[in-house]
Amino acid sequence: MPTILAIESSCDDTSAAIVADGVVLSNVTAGQVVHEEFGGVVPEHASRAHQRNIVPTVAVALKRADRKPEDIDAVAFTRGPGLIGSLMVGVSFAKAFALARNLPLIEVDHMQAHVLAHFAEDPKPKFPFLCLTVSGGHTQLVVVKTALEQEIIGRTIDDAAGEAFDKSGKMLGLPYPAGPEIDKLARQGSPTIKFARPDPGELNFSFSGLKTSILYTLQKRIKAEPDFVKDNLADICASIQHTIVFILLRKLEMAAEQTGLTEIALAGGVSANSGLREGLAELGAAKGWSTYIPRIEYCTDNAAMIGVTGSFKYEAGEFVGQEVAPAARL
Ligand code: KG4
Ligand code: ZN
Repeated sequence: MPTILAIESSCDDTSAAIVADGVVLSNVTAGQVVHEEFGGVVPEHASRAHQRNIVPTVAVALKRADRKPEDIDAVAFTRGPGLIGSLMVGVSFAKAFALARNLPLIEVDHMQAHVLAHFAEDPKPKFPFLCLTVSGGHTQLVVVKTALEQEIIGRTIDDAAGEAFDKSGKMLGLPYPAGPEIDKLARQGSPTIKFARPDPGELNFSFSGLKTSILYTLQKRIKAEPDFVKDNLADICASIQHTIVFILLRKLEMAAEQTGLTEIALAGGVSANSGLREGLAELGAAKGWSTYIPRIEYCTDNAAMIGVTGSFKYEAGEFVGQEVAPAARL
């Protein structure tokens, strides 16, 4: 089994990892604070920050793994989906590194990798399992038949779950990304406010109606009580989180019933959410599921998951040539 250098640069985190024989030796992520003042990721700033960060991030990943460039057998990288300018930096770096050392290249789908983050450490789910992948850009229900055979059975028709957190946080004046802030504040409040729970049918999700419902509810309350948001921030956050978690778990429960699967996993940045983690644990205990949630470092964007996916693809002999290009909508 090979030693893989893995690169992730799809959004606003520059990450590099060394994965040997499927085991994560290092996982180094440089975040970007530059976006905070704009209330969201600015693509042009993101790609420039990736350019500054990529070389030192890879150097630290090698050092922490106690490996040298000559120890690397293959380079795995995120080809997409993501921001094109951000992807371009990671893909170009991966191709250059592979070209210079005459190494095989492995392209990785970012969403497939979020699911396979579960294989970065024990306990690992058993195939086939059901995975709810919730991030800033995606919300998917995936049946994972084998590592490289994943079928999407439900998805969002508008905003992603992370977007729902971030956009409602923006309305409350919270800094970007608002997900972790809402999580923190929610712990000090109670879900006393009712918001809409849109349901587009089947196993699909919709969050844009929730955003509108939050906006109208806040506007109405502020009219009667100008300091409503300031005075009730914790309860508002608890209510937003409660609603998003309710929507996610309702569909997860339906998907488990329809597929008959009892190995249930959570992946993506939003799985760092304490309400969702607790909600899944409770629901799982009631349903008799075996539930799996990666460590937070492996939930948010990271290169370890790219390296783990790269290991599966190396084993399957799935390589790409130097002509490979980033794909924003993979
Ligand atoms: O997977 P990820 O790191 O990047 C994407 O591929 O999108 O997910 C980022 C998303 C953001 O929307 C962020 O607000 C959300 O995950 N997030 C959280 C929490 N931590 C990160 N949302 C709710 N609660 C959290 N604790
Ligand atoms: Zn992601």
